[in-house]
Amino acid sequence: MKFFIDTASLKDIQDAQDLGVLDGVTTNPSLMAKEGIGGEENVKKHYKAICEIVDGDVSAEVISTDFEGIIKEGEELVKIDDQIVVKVPMIKDGIKAIKYFSERGIRTNCTLVFSAGQALLAAKAGATYVSPFIGRLDDISTDGLQLIQDIREIYDNYGYTTEILAASVRHPMHILECAKIGADVMTGPLSAILALLKHPLTDIGLAKFLEDHAKVNA
Ligand code: G3P
Repeated sequence: MKFFIDTASLKDIQDAQDLGVLDGVTTNPSLMAKEGIGGEENVKKHYKAICEIVDGDVSAEVISTDFEGIIKEGEELVKIDDQIVVKVPMIKDGIKAIKYFSERGIRTNCTLVFSAGQALLAAKAGATYVSPFIGRLDDISTDGLQLIQDIREIYDNYGYTTEILAASVRHPMHILECAKIGADVMTGPLSAILALLKHPLTDIGLAKFLEDHAKVNA
């Protein structure tokens, strides 16, 4: 399973890259705003800076919600770097735009997906990635992981090549369950990735090894 980091923080992206396990980055307008990145030129420079840190795909989201606007923005975004994937919302004009982009070899990430029907449409339109938001479904007492399972089954039934990018991942158990189900990619915060490292028996075991080593190497 590929690991993407869901942030616009250059520091967190660099930390995940340095860990050696990073396959890509996803951003969204809220994450860009959190870093204080506004204005067309600043946004483009920030995406370029992200692409220079990470080797893999970088999802850059459009703001437009009409077909012409999405196309114009997407075509500008992909000029920034070959690593850019155009992130398009799951709306009618978004699906039309994904179809348009896929016919022209421009890669897309269909975002704000909350149902298997939406994921089926995204695949039929030729999305490179589909982003079901599992954490936000869990937030409203709906099983986000079940959605990943349903999409996996549907895509496998018909051999759709759209990659399932589990988004809105909040904690390490989300990552593990996504891996068991067979999500192609997960995107989450650095904290969820680093939490995979943790086990109390690892800490206790290491402390004991170092203590025993010290006894005979004083
Ligand atoms: O980038 C999309 C998604 O991962 C957002 O996550 O935590 O805001 O629900 P979250």
